[in-house]
Amino acid sequence: MTKYGRRNRPRGNDFRRSPMLVFYEVTQACGLECKHCRACAQTRAHPDELSTRESLELIDQLTNFPEPPMLVLTGGDPFCRDDIFQLIDYATKAGLETSITPSATPLVTQEAVGRLKDSGIHRLAISLDGADAATHDRFRGIEGSFSRSLEILRDAREAGLPTQVNTTLTPDNYGQIGAMAEMLSSLQITLWSVFFLVPVGRAEFALRLSADEYERAFQQLWDESRRQPYLIKTTEAPHYRRFVMQQERSAKLPSSERTPFQAAGLNDGKGVVFVGHTGEIYPSGFMPILCGQFPQQNVVTVYQNSPLFQDLRDVNRLEGKCRQCEYRTICGGSRARAYAVTGNPFAEEDDCVYIPPSTPALAN
Ligand SMILES: C[S@@+](CC[C@H](N)C(=O)[O-])C[C@H]1O[C@@H](n2cnc3c(N)ncnc32)[C@H](O)[C@@H]1O
Ligand code: SF4
Ligand code: SF4
Repeated sequence: MTKYGRRNRPRGNDFRRSPMLVFYEVTQACGLECKHCRACAQTRAHPDELSTRESLELIDQLTNFPEPPMLVLTGGDPFCRDDIFQLIDYATKAGLETSITPSATPLVTQEAVGRLKDSGIHRLAISLDGADAATHDRFRGIEGSFSRSLEILRDAREAGLPTQVNTTLTPDNYGQIGAMAEMLSSLQITLWSVFFLVPVGRAEFALRLSADEYERAFQQLWDESRRQPYLIKTTEAPHYRRFVMQQERSAKLPSSERTPFQAAGLNDGKGVVFVGHTGEIYPSGFMPILCGQFPQQNVVTVYQNSPLFQDLRDVNRLEGKCRQCEYRTICGGSRARAYAVTGNPFAEEDDCVYIPPSTPALAN
């Protein structure tokens, strides 16, 4: 089976009815204090954090989507919750494909990794933000964090638990894309998810890359995707799909050889919903616009009917060059970044170099 095995092939989701990904931020608590943290994670959990009973009720609601979504238990650090294994057991027994993204701390013991495997967790995602300890630890603010991440990935490998690495690109590690890709090739990971910074939470604008740097990063990721054994995807950079499509078209690749996009069009609120640690329902964790409040409101109803969610799924609501763009249905630009940068969730993506030929300014 190739790396585009059955599980990694695109699903036939109708994003108007069902999300593909539900992120449940089980807690804001975390032992780390990363300077870019969208969650503004704190050492202690919020007193109004959803209880065990409420969390189980939320999981029940997720099973009512017409097509069952994948559930990502995120944070903060999910391992800061005492009941985390109860939530995992409940979600997997309910039939939800469940992943978890713990922070790389001593809480993720070898025994805990074994329990994750036994409880039916689909995938463990761990952050690695540099090709060497100095770069990663500087970013995470804790010495030893790099080797902790590697140890957790090794434990998961030995336990037979599939892994994903998350990397947030910043000016500091941008020059290490090739070195990181090489390092990951020996770690037997399933997926490398490369996050493009959204200036939200603690993340400052200075940590962003320029649009030209995005394009050069896309080129490197595309090159690596064809030689590495693992899949590569971007998070909050849907214009990577535009880049890949342009490359494949110019290489005149037959459609059978083109990249099967895991989720063409997936974007904030479009195939994605985020439930915060105190029940806030957002289009994504990077777009903190309140659309509903669990448990007072049902997450299925909010996802399907909230005016903002509906508008985010309507490409005709896009503005500027994203509205003109022939790639808008597979891309549409990061809606979270548009909102973070301009305050308008429908504004054009600031960090994309592409100028659609039909843009009025060019037509003159
Ligand atoms: C919110 S964290 C949760 C999991 C865990 N605490 C961690 O950091 O690995 C999930 C991923 O989002 C990334 N992230 C956090 N804030 C971000 C931001 N403002 N822009 C882009 N990615 C961000 C993190 O680096 C991490 O890889
Ligand atoms: S990015 Fe993750 S590890 Fe870092 S402070 Fe935020 S929640 Fe904790
Ligand atoms: S112009 Fe907008 S829709 Fe087109 S590729 Fe760039 S970000 Fe995507």
